[in-house]
Amino acid sequence: MKDNDDCGSNDSSNIDLAAILVCDRVRRRLLQGGLGAAGLALFGAVDTPAQAAPAVSRPRISFAPIAPSAEDAVRVAPGYSVQVLFAWGDPVSDGPPFKADAGNSAEEQEQQAGMHHDGMHFFPFRESGAYSSAHGLLCINHEYVDDGLLHPDGMSNWDAVKVAKSKAAHGVSVIEVRMRNGRWQVVRPSQYARRITAATPILIGGPAAGSPYMATADDPAGHMCLGTLNNCAHGVTPWGTYLTCEENFNGYFAASDPAQITADHKRYGISAKGYGYRWHESDNRFDVALTPTEPNRFGWVVEIDPWDSGSLPVKRTALGRFKHEGAKTVLAADGRVVVYMGDDERFEYIYKFVSRGRYDPEDKEANRDLLDEGTLYVARFNADGKGKWLELTHGRGGLTVANGFRDQAEVLVRTRQAADQLGATKMDRPEWIAVHPRSGEVYCSLTNNSQRGAAGMPGTDAANPRANNVFGHIIRWREAGGSPAALSCRWEIFVLCGDPANADRDKRGNIKGDIFGSPDGLWFDSEGRLWIATDVSPGALNRGDYAPVGNNQLLCADVVTGEVKRFLTGPAGCEITGVIGTPDRRTLFVNIQHPGEVPGDRSDPAKPKAGSSWPDGERGGRPRSATIAIRRNDGGVVGT
Ligand code: FEO
Ligand code: CA
Ligand code: CA
Repeated sequence: MKDNDDCGSNDSSNIDLAAILVCDRVRRRLLQGGLGAAGLALFGAVDTPAQAAPAVSRPRISFAPIAPSAEDAVRVAPGYSVQVLFAWGDPVSDGPPFKADAGNSAEEQEQQAGMHHDGMHFFPFRESGAYSSAHGLLCINHEYVDDGLLHPDGMSNWDAVKVAKSKAAHGVSVIEVRMRNGRWQVVRPSQYARRITAATPILIGGPAAGSPYMATADDPAGHMCLGTLNNCAHGVTPWGTYLTCEENFNGYFAASDPAQITADHKRYGISAKGYGYRWHESDNRFDVALTPTEPNRFGWVVEIDPWDSGSLPVKRTALGRFKHEGAKTVLAADGRVVVYMGDDERFEYIYKFVSRGRYDPEDKEANRDLLDEGTLYVARFNADGKGKWLELTHGRGGLTVANGFRDQAEVLVRTRQAADQLGATKMDRPEWIAVHPRSGEVYCSLTNNSQRGAAGMPGTDAANPRANNVFGHIIRWREAGGSPAALSCRWEIFVLCGDPANADRDKRGNIKGDIFGSPDGLWFDSEGRLWIATDVSPGALNRGDYAPVGNNQLLCADVVTGEVKRFLTGPAGCEITGVIGTPDRRTLFVNIQHPGEVPGDRSDPAKPKAGSSWPDGERGGRPRSATIAIRRNDGGVVGT
């Protein structure tokens, strides 16, 4: 999401020390998807790192880096080409075309790319006995909308019809893509293509399913909700499903009676006014005065089977409820599934989930609900470079009835409060997490925190060492014994972002190479190149200390030497996200989110003309978030 300068902060007072009932029909559909020939094609498409090696070989990163840019264009390293593949409003299958005046109806939007692409994964088909790098499914998150762009006349004449279109532009697209002669195209029609939106029926799985915290008048059983919201980063499971992560869900809720906003609502940033989406005016679900438990049904990781367009997604409550960034999944040597996750808000936490059951490559059904049972942990990074994973289990560590936690369902619904209780380390906005494909070393971007060290706020600590941390940093750790399921780790800071020439020590970076700030997306390709995507807020972009940095960008780092090279710069006002490659590493898909973003009112109908006309350029029209495909002109491996 656009870097939200007015997002709240964790003001909890802990001291910072350095089974669900799924109907048989749905079960069958999920199972069919996982067991189908196409589903089997996915095995192997997830990282399964070897146990940590003492040394890691260096990947070749020999492209010529590019200069910062403030242009309204995508610039990429010499010798590479960029193709716009799938922009907001493009049909996912053989549906209606995009209308340049944003005049598509809600029903049409439900068959088209949503707005503001974010996390993304490429699921290859298996063809002729190998994983294809020319044919696959792309799952693409659509994080949020700007209603000034979404409707021809913005938010004027606001009504339920506009709310329906706003909901339809959220969620996830699944599209089939194929490359021919070096050019990618969306396959239309496709049996796989579908949209999941803020109105799609979604099952609730895991310990919080069926609990009173999840029940509403519309769903007294607490087993099924409507929609997924603010889908930010993502994950992929070893059994070939997609994980989409709900981040700033709080902003969609408001209250007709502000007195009904509880302390638990506030802990998750829910306020009487919300972010101005105005859904609550025509849908009681989003008025917490009328439906106080509806917010509990958001803030989860949602599992989607991309290979069965009829399957229902499932919210996996065992992974905790917070403002989820991504869900980086790796396998422990014993087959347990480990999921690393960040909670992106100032002074929030880094988590990991370890499944109880073990992944079985021979038995797809046994894997289907692996994410419903296990242990959730939160990280504490101590000043001596050692880290601990603190268990979020009811009855342990003070997570007791006496301290306000009635059962495990409540621990999960109120994950943030439980982590406060354990004394986890309050971080500078954890965004994406990536795991090195050979060493198993874990990297997490901490995008920025302008409130670190401010009056009444937590001060610096070893893991978050700069006050007014406007440039952010990247932390890395190695789990004890090289096992991702370990309960302790050794950590260090990989890089402090910012210009090494900045006179202010809290803004001065130690980057070797090209400068950047506000790291967000992190992704390792299979040869160990760390790709870093940035999300500088529109208020800071090209201003003040950020003036030398230019537009948001994609960089490539050698984690052995720390050298960083700028590979791509985005159009005006955009954020770079959704970085993912094909198995052969010869195509890199990237998402350009919110081109033209300018500080100010997201409902302003003048906004479409304000900041950008990318990707349509001189043809004018509204700026559109889009998936691009990058290839080396000679067909070589991207980044070499
Ligand atoms: Fe949606 Fe924290 O980025
Ligand atoms: Ca961000
Ligand atoms: Ca992000």
